[in-house]
Amino acid sequence: MTFPDNFLWGGATAANQCEGAYLADGKGLSIADAMPGGKDRFKKLFSPDFDWTIDESRNYYPNHFGIDHYNRYEEDIALFAEMGFKCYRFSIAWTRIFPKGTEAEPNERGLAFYEKVIDTCLHYHIEPVVTISHYEMPLYLAKEFGGWQDRQLIDHYTRYARVLLERFGDKVTYWMTFNEINGALHFPALSLGMVPKTGAGNKQLVFQGLHHQFVASSLVVKMARELNPELQIGMMTIYATGYAFDCHPANQVANMEKNQEVNGFCCEVQAGGAYPPYTQRLFDKYGVQPLTMAPEDEQLLKEYPVDYIGLSYYMSTTIDVVDPEAAKVAGNLTGGIKNPYLETSEWGWQTDAAGLRIGLNELYQRFHKPLFVVENGLGAVDVLTEDKTVHDDYRINYLAEHITEMGKAIADGVNLIGYTPWGCIDLVSASTGEMSKRYGFIYVDKDDEGNGTYDRYRKDSFYWYQQVIASNGSDL
Ligand code: BG6
Repeated sequence: MTFPDNFLWGGATAANQCEGAYLADGKGLSIADAMPGGKDRFKKLFSPDFDWTIDESRNYYPNHFGIDHYNRYEEDIALFAEMGFKCYRFSIAWTRIFPKGTEAEPNERGLAFYEKVIDTCLHYHIEPVVTISHYEMPLYLAKEFGGWQDRQLIDHYTRYARVLLERFGDKVTYWMTFNEINGALHFPALSLGMVPKTGAGNKQLVFQGLHHQFVASSLVVKMARELNPELQIGMMTIYATGYAFDCHPANQVANMEKNQEVNGFCCEVQAGGAYPPYTQRLFDKYGVQPLTMAPEDEQLLKEYPVDYIGLSYYMSTTIDVVDPEAAKVAGNLTGGIKNPYLETSEWGWQTDAAGLRIGLNELYQRFHKPLFVVENGLGAVDVLTEDKTVHDDYRINYLAEHITEMGKAIADGVNLIGYTPWGCIDLVSASTGEMSKRYGFIYVDKDDEGNGTYDRYRKDSFYWYQQVIASNGSDL
């Protein structure tokens, strides 16, 4: 297995899921602070009466406390360094910099925190990889503007992004504008700050919101080119490789269309620089009328596509439109049916390592841009043993299989620049707000109700990943 010498091995987190300290040092409330914990989190976010009200008498809000990374980042980054991380992907909480999102001046205390995080990374020769917005826009923007459906969000976001690029552009080369941009099509609450009350069920508004994010992202690319052409601005997409259940032409066609919609569409705009030829067909499907655009939008998208494609890969999606029985068993988070050839995690996600190789090939052949797997992993229940470790061979097997497939993709000719498994330290789940859905190499002593010491413990996978990095992917 040959990985390039400068391959960026590391791990990934997001501010809202690990930092906690949700009101510290001038931070404002974010949408993640208003998301209740529990398996029914998505059900609540999708319910018609959800209006972002924080009601602590009825709900527990796990993101308020995260894993207290805000106060323990030094210890955490030291552990990442011990594993040999070459890079660390984290996000900046917009609300630490602009608490409401509309202020003219940034909050210096928020900037100072990220300066320390970045400097700590650099101290260990860990390349910081920064997501500018990861599922945590200011709550004020979601409530007052209805989220990204409002074009004014572009100005608020680019003002925030400019502050980051100007402040940290000499220390951070790799940036991503939006986490899982196509998440808008699956869970608009997280991606666009839109819930049913503010139009999440209206595809016209969802695609309009996406358009505003596309424009905002291109403006950041433009800004980066002007500030420092060395900066690498990436997009970040969910990639759930699509399969037709069988060779029935109707299934093949359905898979093609689904693939274009959920995997291809955002990449075409952000990496390809234009809305794809099938846009009209897609809009017709949902009754979407032509989007409202400023005269310069399309030229901007064309001139300022991203430098690289970051992707999260957890699952593939299998389509069967022929057998009505098959459709009755729900498949993955991204839809489709249950694939009988795949294993299913405790949270119902079907894991599929080979699908990663296929997805990387599909993306690279289409766009010829460097690819970066910035999320991948197995959410599982871990048991802390009496001697304070976790025997997580299931996680090791999962990661080893996916790394093997990445190696094969590189042998296929794909330009893959790095790998940052998700939740390299246990953190709060995005879809359920649970702590018990763990991904990390490092166990954090905290449960779903918020009890625990928050102490950190190395799992078996910690030592395994250390050896993977030391051998540059050859010792799995
Ligand atoms: C991705 C998100 O969708 O998947 C992360 O970018 C998220 O924020 C990860 O945590 C895993 O999902 P979950 O729901 O298991 O936390």
